[in-house]
Amino acid sequence: MTKDPARRAAVDVVLAVDRDGAYANLLLPRLLRERAITGTDAAFATELAYGTLRRSGVLDPVVAVGARRAPDTLDPEVRSVLRLGAYQLLHTRVPPHAAVSTSVDLARELGGPKITGLVNAVLRRVAQRDWPQWVDELAPTGDPVGRLAFERGYPRWIAAAWLDALGNDLAELDRALTDERPSTHLVARPQRITRAELLADAGPTASAGPWSPYAVHLAGGDPGGLAAVRDGRAGVQDEGSQLVALAAAQIPVEGPDLCWLDACAGPGGKAALLAGLLPHGGRLLAADRTPHRAVLVRQTLASDPRAAVVVADSTRPAWVNRCFDRVLADVPCSGLGAMRRRPELRWRRQPADVDRLRVLQADLLTAAVEAVRPGGVVTYATCSPHLAETIGVLDSVLADRPDVELVDARAALPGVPDLGPGPTAQLWPHRHGTDAMFVAIVRRKLD
Ligand SMILES: C[S@@+](CC[C@H](N)C(=O)[O-])C[C@H]1O[C@@H](n2cnc3c(N)ncnc32)[C@H](O)[C@@H]1O
Repeated sequence: MTKDPARRAAVDVVLAVDRDGAYANLLLPRLLRERAITGTDAAFATELAYGTLRRSGVLDPVVAVGARRAPDTLDPEVRSVLRLGAYQLLHTRVPPHAAVSTSVDLARELGGPKITGLVNAVLRRVAQRDWPQWVDELAPTGDPVGRLAFERGYPRWIAAAWLDALGNDLAELDRALTDERPSTHLVARPQRITRAELLADAGPTASAGPWSPYAVHLAGGDPGGLAAVRDGRAGVQDEGSQLVALAAAQIPVEGPDLCWLDACAGPGGKAALLAGLLPHGGRLLAADRTPHRAVLVRQTLASDPRAAVVVADSTRPAWVNRCFDRVLADVPCSGLGAMRRRPELRWRRQPADVDRLRVLQADLLTAAVEAVRPGGVVTYATCSPHLAETIGVLDSVLADRPDVELVDARAALPGVPDLGPGPTAQLWPHRHGTDAMFVAIVRRKLD
C-alpha cells in the first residue's frame, strides 16, 4: 500500500532500471496499467521516472555531495529515492518541502524507518542550491562541451559525438541536447488502412505527421486502445523509421524491381511498410538472426502472401547473392538516435558498444552489397547519428569496392529539409521531430 501511487510507480521504475537492468519504456506502462494509475497521476509518474533516468548520471554527483559518499556505495533503494528526490528539487516545480517529505515517505515504504533520516538529511543539503548553482559547482570548467553535457544531463562522450555529427556547431548542439517529450507516432500501413481512416479512428489528439504520408502523431492517450493498432492495420513507428523504409522503397533502380530483402527485419516495423509499398508482383524476404524477433516480424507482416520471413544470419546469407533489386540493411546499432524514447539508454551505453557494433555493421553492409544485383540499391540505416556507426562504416566498406557508388539519399526523402551536406541523410529530433535516423543509399554499378 502507498499513499502516493504516482511517485511510488516512478521510484519502482528508477529502482528496477538501476538494480535489474529493466527498460523504463516497457516497465512503466505495465506498472501504470496494473496499478490503475491514469490521467494526471500517470503523466506525473512518467515525468518523474523519465526525467530522473535521463539525468541520473548528473544527479549522482549532486547526491554524492549531499550524502558525503559515492552513490554507488548506497543501497539501490536509497539511491533511487535520492535520485528521484533530487530530480524533483532541481528540475520540477514541486515545492522543496513536498519533494523532501514525499521522498522520506517513499524511503520508509522501500527500506523501513532506518533510512528515512539519511534521505531527509541528504535532500535538505541538495535543496540548498538550485540547478544552475550545482552546474557552476560541479560541471567541468574550460570545457564547453563537457559543461553543456552536464547541464543538459548527457554523458560527455555522447555530446562530443553529436557535435562531430553536427559539423562542430556548438549552438546547434545546444538545441540538440534539449530534451523534448516525444509524441507517439503511428504508421497507417498502406493497403491495410489509409491515413485519413486512422486519423478519424484516433480522435482529436491525432494529427498528420509532416513528412511521411503514412504518419499520424498522437498527442496523448494509449495507442494500444486503438482497434487499428491492435489488429495491425496501423503500428507504433517513429516517423523517421517510416522515412527510412520509404527511402528504401522509392529510390529508383535500373531494371526490374520485384525482389526486395530486409536483411535485419526484427521486429518488423519497416518490413511491414516495405510490404505495403511493393510493386505489383513484387516479393519481400525479411530476415532476422534472432528467432523470437523473426516471430515478431511474422506477426507484424500479418501473413501477407507477398512476404516471407526467415531466421538467418545475414552476414552468412541463406540466399543467392546478386539477386535482389533492393536491400534494406537497418543494422543493429547503439540506438542513441532514439534516446528521447529510452530515458536510461544514454547512461547504459558505453563508447565500447559503438566499437563493437561497427564491426557487425560493416559485415552486414558488405553482405547487403553482395546480395543486391548490379543496378540495384542497398539502403543502409542506423538509429544513431554517431559518425563511427554511419559515415565511418560506409567509408570502411566502400573504400575497397569500386563496383558500388553512393547516391544522394536526400533525393529519396523529397520535401524533407536540413538533411545535411549529402550524399547521406541525417534526421534529428530537434530539426525534424523524428528519431535521429541515418540513411545512406548505395548503388551497385552495372557490370
Ligand atoms: C535495428 S533492428 C531492425 C529494426 C527493424 N528493421 C524494424 O524496423 O522493425 C536490427 C535487427 O537486426 C537483427 N540482427 C542482428 N544481427 C543480425 C545478423 N547478423 N543477421 C540478421 N539480423 C541481425 C537484430 O536481431 C535486430 O532485430
